[in-house]
Amino acid sequence: MEFFNREKEIQDLLNMIKQEPNLITFIYGPINSGKTVLMQYLIENVLPKEYVAFYINLRREEVTKEEEFYEILFETYEERGDFFDRVISRLPKISFGIPIPFGTFKLMFEKREKDYRGVFRYIIKTLQKLKEKGLKPIIIFDELQVIKDIKINEPLIYRVFNLLISLTKELKLCHVFAITSDSTFIERIYNEAMLQGRSRYYLVDDFDKETVKRILREKGFSEEEIDMVWHYFGGKPIYLVEAIQSKKIGRDVKELCEEFYKLRRNQILDLLYILRRENVEMFKRVIEVLKNFKDRNEIVYKEITPKILWLINKNILFLEPVNRIIKPQSYLELLAIRNILKEFNV
Ligand SMILES: Nc1ncnc2c1ncn2[C@@H]1O[C@H](COP(=O)(O)OP(=O)(O)OP(=O)(O)O)[C@@H](O)[C@H]1O
Ligand SMILES: [Mg+2]
Repeated sequence: MEFFNREKEIQDLLNMIKQEPNLITFIYGPINSGKTVLMQYLIENVLPKEYVAFYINLRREEVTKEEEFYEILFETYEERGDFFDRVISRLPKISFGIPIPFGTFKLMFEKREKDYRGVFRYIIKTLQKLKEKGLKPIIIFDELQVIKDIKINEPLIYRVFNLLISLTKELKLCHVFAITSDSTFIERIYNEAMLQGRSRYYLVDDFDKETVKRILREKGFSEEEIDMVWHYFGGKPIYLVEAIQSKKIGRDVKELCEEFYKLRRNQILDLLYILRRENVEMFKRVIEVLKNFKDRNEIVYKEITPKILWLINKNILFLEPVNRIIKPQSYLELLAIRNILKEFNV
């Protein structure tokens, strides 16, 4: 896969990583803005070789219980020879779980009470060993919101935050990044007392117009085609990739744009028809919110009301808590909203 320029983001993230670990970094942004691809590119192609990353993708399998979280957090290895020499000291640049001998993992879970303290002690010990060896570990949780509703006695996420705070601010053992595209989750995190002064927030947004122009010009798009792509897709990377691939096989760019647009418009329209049938009051309030986007691309919100929440949960709007902005998830949604308002005569 070809990777398009993210120079600024890469520089910003590198600057964070070069410092001693201190804060947990939450990476957020609209759907499909390229958060995952950016972090993977950074690890694989930019970070110097003393960095070893543990990339924990919580979207990989369904996670509804504490055990399932640990199954993704760890990667078990057969117990043979010295575990440190055989596995820990030979880690690749990117691992998809924290290595643990199978027996140790099993033991932790055979205990009647889930021994999360033991789990966390094991992680700290492993990271300490890596540090002693001159390596610099980084832990990345992708889609951390997946565990937001898991409760044992207390919510699992609070235990995880406690661990992450000790790994960063207290022990300076490793950098921690948590990626999410769930707007309501990031808003909750942003206002979470426990994380005050212990976390920072980094937005990875769609590409800006200059970048889109540069990428598409290089791919032989005419100025007219570039304007068309920007009009329909804005800087959403996933759609740019589609446009480039379509052009390569000789497909008309306008036709592709309209196909995507129609699909998204009809999806949103159907959601609104259903809402109108089920809750006409809510429907009216939602339309009031959408009217804001008739002549604006984004608005500043005062509070997150149920009507705004409805639009966020349906992935029509994206909420950015740092600047208190709400905006459509992409230009496709913006165009669809404007067209749908006409449909409903508002
Ligand atoms: N810098 C880039 N260069 C090339 N393609 C990219 C880039 N960023 C994103 N893409 C394209 O967009 C797609 C979506 O990117 P990615 O999965 O990283 O988004 P995301 O923000 O993590 O999405 P989600 O919100 O679903 O987690 C990628 O599969 C790729 O095709
Ligand atoms: Mg992602």
